[in-house]
Amino acid sequence: MAGDSPSVLPVQLVEQPRLQKLKEMFISKFGSAPKFYARAPGRVNLIGEHIDYCGYAVLPMAIEQDILIAVEPVQTQVVQLANTNSSYLDFSTSVNNIQINKTKPQWHNYFLCGLKGIQVELAEICTKSEHYIGTEGGGMDQSISFLAEEGTAKLIEFSPLRATDVRLPSGATFVIANSCVEMNKAATSHYNIRVMECRLATKLLSKSKGLEWRKMLRLHDVQTKLGVSLEEMLTIVEEVLHPEPYSTEEICKCLGISLEELRSQILSQNMQDVSTFKLYQRAKHVYSEAARVLEFQKICSKAPANALQLLGELMKQSHISCREMYECSCPELDRLVDICLQFGAIGSRLTGAGWGGCTVSMVPTDKLNTFLKNVKKAYYQTDGQRLAVENNSLFATKPGRGALVFVEA
Ligand code: GLA
Repeated sequence: MAGDSPSVLPVQLVEQPRLQKLKEMFISKFGSAPKFYARAPGRVNLIGEHIDYCGYAVLPMAIEQDILIAVEPVQTQVVQLANTNSSYLDFSTSVNNIQINKTKPQWHNYFLCGLKGIQVELAEICTKSEHYIGTEGGGMDQSISFLAEEGTAKLIEFSPLRATDVRLPSGATFVIANSCVEMNKAATSHYNIRVMECRLATKLLSKSKGLEWRKMLRLHDVQTKLGVSLEEMLTIVEEVLHPEPYSTEEICKCLGISLEELRSQILSQNMQDVSTFKLYQRAKHVYSEAARVLEFQKICSKAPANALQLLGELMKQSHISCREMYECSCPELDRLVDICLQFGAIGSRLTGAGWGGCTVSMVPTDKLNTFLKNVKKAYYQTDGQRLAVENNSLFATKPGRGALVFVEA
């Protein structure tokens, strides 16, 4: 399943300025040299938003940009963490007593979650680890981070986890652009509400089709149990669910359960105060987005002459569905997508959880430089705050390799 690329790579530090700088900072902080360095790539999802936790395949790639960690194993039971960015304070704790405060997200929690995850068990460890932060993520990021290979995006399928190469047609480059709107998934409930809406839609659809709804958790399970296509699932959603938001009372009535049972058996702890849920729109997004992912893969493998146009169209539809049906966009992301399309992108969409964060655009390689210049002018140079971070906010990238450990050669 994992690629052939080694996950431990001997490197000459003189040829790796970022590692060299990290080593120097480590020595000045801790007084000894790191024994190894770990790298995790950034990721971008090309298509398939908010469907991994519903059980559907997604299509991300790792990018060349990354996060580096320098490590020195120690004999004591104390883990000491420091960040090269001085606005993130040093932190240390005993490994025997890891406390993760979910209500107060801090940078070192992500490291502690990894440690806590290892202490539980080693299978699909990182996806589970993220749940300790409080976000019920679907595993896309962790899977692509480990399974990525240079030069290819991957179709990631779940249960069981598997990855298939998706070679992107030549002639286009992917450009990431940061909207400069920050959305902290762990500190807000947007993301988990969507997970819950999908779970409730699963239950209502299952009940109406006579399935064992209590056991059903993901929209994918409904499709599998019914043995129908994604298109048929879209018709079923239209027949069974209504576009008006559902109140908790109506959900209880549909499922034939009490409010207490809904609260204790289905709604998670932080969902208890939410009073309305949009089930029709969320299910429509998930089934249509899942179909777009498969279509994207098919176009890449058949590579017809108009492949780029077809892929671009799917990306545009994906953004519209995220904006209208899933409501995970924001005005800045919509504006950025419009600007990217206006200046020559064949397709453009929000990527990742949304409500802020980045867009991914597919740009004809021969128009790349003018595209970057124009987007810079239209989105970043019009705003002082955006301009200050613009260098790291707008860049072209290629499918990069996955996570690995560096040791000094
Ligand atoms: C976040 C989550 C992923 C996925 C995306 C939306 O990035 O970590 O698991 O759900 O949102 O596609």
